[in-house]
Amino acid sequence: MRSFLGRDILSLKDFEREDFFRIFEVAKKLEPIAKNRKNSNILADKTMVTAFYQPSTRTRLSHEAAMHRLGGHVLGFADAKMTRAGDFYQESIKDTVKMLEYYGDVIVMRHFQQGAPAETAKWASVPVINAGDGWGEHPTQVLTDLYTILQEKGTIDGLTFLCIGDMRMRTMHSISYALTQFDAQVIYVAPPAMSMTEEFKAELKNYNLRFKTAEHVADVINEADIIYIEPVVQADYTVAREDTKSDKGLTPDNYRVTRELLEKKAKPDSIILHSLPRMDELPPDVDITRHSRYWQEAFNGVVMKMGLLSLILGAEE
Ligand code: CP
Repeated sequence: MRSFLGRDILSLKDFEREDFFRIFEVAKKLEPIAKNRKNSNILADKTMVTAFYQPSTRTRLSHEAAMHRLGGHVLGFADAKMTRAGDFYQESIKDTVKMLEYYGDVIVMRHFQQGAPAETAKWASVPVINAGDGWGEHPTQVLTDLYTILQEKGTIDGLTFLCIGDMRMRTMHSISYALTQFDAQVIYVAPPAMSMTEEFKAELKNYNLRFKTAEHVADVINEADIIYIEPVVQADYTVAREDTKSDKGLTPDNYRVTRELLEKKAKPDSIILHSLPRMDELPPDVDITRHSRYWQEAFNGVVMKMGLLSLILGAEE
C-alpha cells in the first residue's frame, strides 16, 4: 500500500483495495471525537485551504468540520467570483495555486473544469484533494458512501449496487472505479442521453467490473443491496454556477425511487444512498423508511474526512 503522507487524492482509479480500508480504519478510530461533538488537537499545527470554484454545501463544510474536529485551521474561498480567478484578471490555476500552497498544508479544490485539481497538484508543493471536478470525479463523496456502506452492512464485497441517474456525473465515475477493487456487481439505470459512454464501459470491462444496464428501476430494484441514486434533472457541472430555472422538468418514473416502489419490490434490508442535493427522483417521504441512509452520510462524511486528513497530513502512518 502506498503511503498517504503528502498524497494527492485526485481519482479513485489510483486506489487499491487496502487504501480504502486504511482510511476507513483511521476514520473509525477517530469517530468518537465527532460523535461526542468535541474538537481535538491532532492537527493543531496544520492548515487546510479550501478553493471552491463551484457551489457546495456538504463537501466544503464537511472538510472544514473535519479539520476543526482535528484542531486544525481552515481558510479559503467558497465563491471564486470574489477572487482574482473570477474577476477581470481571470487568474490562472497555476498563478492561484502558487499563492495557495504557502497559505496552508493541504488544498481542497472543487472546480467546474475536469482535471483542474490534477493541474493544481502539478503546481502545488502541498497535497491536493479533488472535491469534485466538472464531469470528472468526486473521490471524497464516494469514500463517504463506501464508509457508510461498511458501517451499515459490515462489508462491501458480495453486494449488488443499483446506480440510477446521469452516468456523466462525477460520483458515478468515482463509484464505478472504486468498485473495481471489490467483489461487487453494478446495475446502471440511466436515460439514453445520459448513459455510459462506450469508452467508459470498455474501461470498466478492462478493470473486470461486473455490470449490466437496465431501462427501468422497477425491473431491477429487487436485486439491489445498495440503491445509489442521483438526479437526472440537474445543473450543468461544467459551468461555475447555474441558477435555478422556473421550469426544471420532472424525473421520469424509470429513474425515481418512491416509497411505493420500495414497499412493493425492494429487498427489505436494501439501503439508499444519495450524495444530494436531490430533485424529485427521491421523494421526501422515503426519508423515514428503513432504507434511507443519506442523513447518516452527513455524519460519516465528517468522520471519513477526519481519517483522510489525518493520513495525508501525517498524524497517522
Ligand atoms: N455531495 C455533494 O457534492 O454535495 P455538495 O455539492 O453540497 O458539496
